[in-house]
Amino acid sequence: MIQVAVLGYGTVGSGVVEVIERNRQEITRKSGEEIHVKYILDLRDFPGDPYENKVVHDVEQILNDPQIQIVCETMGGLKPAYDFTKRALLSGKSVCTSNKELVAAHGSELMRIAGENKCNYLFEASVGGGIPIIRPMKESLTAEKIEAVTGILNGTTNYILSKMEKEGAAFEDVLRQAQEKGYAEKNPQADVEGHDACRKIAILSSLMCGKYVNYQDIYTEGITGITAEDFVYAHACGKTIKLLALSRTFQREGREEGLYAMVAPFMISRSNPLFMVDDVFNAICVHSDRMGESMYYGKGAGKLPTASAVVSDVADCARHAGKALMSSWDSQEASLADIDQISRRFFVRVSEDKESRALQTFESVSVIEADVAGEFAFITDSMTEEDFRKKADEVGIISRIRVEE
Ligand code: HSE
Repeated sequence: MIQVAVLGYGTVGSGVVEVIERNRQEITRKSGEEIHVKYILDLRDFPGDPYENKVVHDVEQILNDPQIQIVCETMGGLKPAYDFTKRALLSGKSVCTSNKELVAAHGSELMRIAGENKCNYLFEASVGGGIPIIRPMKESLTAEKIEAVTGILNGTTNYILSKMEKEGAAFEDVLRQAQEKGYAEKNPQADVEGHDACRKIAILSSLMCGKYVNYQDIYTEGITGITAEDFVYAHACGKTIKLLALSRTFQREGREEGLYAMVAPFMISRSNPLFMVDDVFNAICVHSDRMGESMYYGKGAGKLPTASAVVSDVADCARHAGKALMSSWDSQEASLADIDQISRRFFVRVSEDKESRALQTFESVSVIEADVAGEFAFITDSMTEEDFRKKADEVGIISRIRVEE
């Protein structure tokens, strides 16, 4: 029997206990050993909860118990999760987490400590909620050179954008619904400003290149500037708007120049496989050199999908007890390319009096006819981010959204 402790009895932590208790037979069959939750760490008491007798308030009880082999860290945030994780790993206890913030900030160090102490630091649930994406990138695509990852990596913002588009719902109302459903972060600014997706694409980028990609180097823009009018234009040209997180190797004159990563709202076409990904669903398109495109899809947030991913790591740790798996990336920091030199098309809105100025400056554009008064809107030809910014400043635009076919 493998004894487990769960740190944090919130949305994901309570899901982890529920999944382990409800799917015991299935999990035992796949882990080779029965998994048993011995402790739940939380500051609060949970009178009436079926597992209230497992709740403890002092982490020392867990860290000093030699029976505990695996710790599920579902507290979120850096403090005290970083300290608890480090101490668990130093005492040879594997840690499975959904904490993307901690993985993105200290993953390299925590994996190294795990390796030195013959245990594991696994984080399948940190990206894409219930979608298996870390293990496929680490193991199933071992033979592939991954050249691009493009994903919808935040359930809350995808839920908000879908409801704004389909129901014309107001931003604040939909955000509240996402919070009620347990999708949003404690501070939902992390979702709507793109920071959560930024941590997740940093993790996928690190897996992609085998080096540490610092999330602070990733250009990040959220969805707070997206309006109902933007969706009117998107419909008029057969597109939709999604918050995309991307990481791509780019080439110039046939030579690989490096890797760039970014998070921003994009207008995408109907032909894009991410077009149909709605509500809390996430999806990740991976382009690799031998296989080409592969896509991973499922619920990207919420109690049970995320908990299920944590428990899949628990089973992995149980199968590899006493053995450290290979680190997902080393601690050397990758240097990311500046997005200024990346070329793409842009959707632009200007006030109607700037039509001729905009046409003169941007030259060749595709005009979008839509039912929005007092404006002129168009999609530019492909140009670098830097060129676009100069031209946009020259004209004085209302707003712009990047375009991805
Ligand atoms: N707040 C996150 C989201 C939770 O909405 O995707 C899952 O990481």
